[in-house]
Amino acid sequence: MVTILVTGCAGFIGSHLCTLLLNKGFNVIGVDNFDTFYSRTAKELNLAKFKAHPAFRFYEIDITKGLDTIAGENIKAVIHLAAKAGVRPSIDDPAGYLHVNIVGTQKVHEFMQAKAIDKLVFASSSSVYGNNKKMPFSEDDPVDNPISPYAFTKKACELMNYTFHHLYHIDIINLRFFTVYGPGQRPDLAIHKFVERISKNQPLVLFGNGDTARDYTYVDDTVSGIYSALEYCLNNTGIYTTVNLGNNKPVKLTELVEVIYAAMGKEKNVVYEDMQAGDVDITFADITKAGKLLHYKPATDLAAGIKKFIAWYNTRNEQGNIE
Ligand SMILES: NC(=O)c1ccc[n+]([C@@H]2O[C@H](COP(=O)([O-])OP(=O)(O)OC[C@H]3O[C@@H](n4cnc5c(N)ncnc54)[C@H](O)[C@@H]3O)[C@@H](O)[C@H]2O)c1
Repeated sequence: MVTILVTGCAGFIGSHLCTLLLNKGFNVIGVDNFDTFYSRTAKELNLAKFKAHPAFRFYEIDITKGLDTIAGENIKAVIHLAAKAGVRPSIDDPAGYLHVNIVGTQKVHEFMQAKAIDKLVFASSSSVYGNNKKMPFSEDDPVDNPISPYAFTKKACELMNYTFHHLYHIDIINLRFFTVYGPGQRPDLAIHKFVERISKNQPLVLFGNGDTARDYTYVDDTVSGIYSALEYCLNNTGIYTTVNLGNNKPVKLTELVEVIYAAMGKEKNVVYEDMQAGDVDITFADITKAGKLLHYKPATDLAAGIKKFIAWYNTRNEQGNIE
């Protein structure tokens, strides 16, 4: 059986990915340090879905200093998702973001060299496009104007990945995710926050005039794209490439809010505040390359995905509020 190392395995995307990899028959080594960005309990619940699987092994370690404790494993590829995520908090803590995201990624490369692992799938972000004016965003567009420290770290890691590809012939795919949502979504992200506030009969606080838009991508689509990227990486050599994994269908904030209120059957109650620093106006993925290279085809539309999120949110809250 082929063994894959997944960093950030207890996180939102990582936990969905581990479930898929285990279902596909891979051995999975998961790494996570339960970073305090959001509750450890939420991450423990994510992990509980597969922690006891006989093909899964968990290391509670920090990627910036603990990877060398992983001994004697025959790892074929790394899927590197661990990071300090979140745009707005990165403005308050640029040093923390640089350390975990950039030094952490360099430590992943160091580990890969020590273990002679030459396949890497890396979690980059649509945020590297900044306020790109050309729509939709294509991988060939210049990404030289990141507008948050978080975006800067992701761009920096893409560049670092190129350097290690060049020096050590590591096959690498950078995947640019576009606002991923679905069961287990991070509590700092809009859909999760909105559903929570509506459930508690609190007004929604919308930043900007409601015209900002995001290319919301359902987590199963993102994870199937990651899986295809892994297969592509395993089956090819001499690769360094960057691929958008979005939905190719930006949704305005006002429309998102309508869909959520409709799904929850509640009266709309919103207040508007100024745009937040670091937030981009719009994200919109050109997914032509993902389609050609990875046969990527997102399948879940927003209304269906929101319903699945709300169902998860309600079930989880029946088990006890974990915030
Ligand atoms: N969710 C999105 O919409 C989105 C969009 C673009 C890019 N991404 C990227 O995808 C990846 C996964 O995002 P997510 O939404 O699942 O976030 P998440 O915060 O749920 O998952 C990240 C995981 O990494 C772990 N982690 C953080 N620092 C670590 C460290 N030093 N050592 C070990 N583990 C550490 C965290 O504890 C967490 O479980 C991240 O790299 C993120 O930047 C996410």
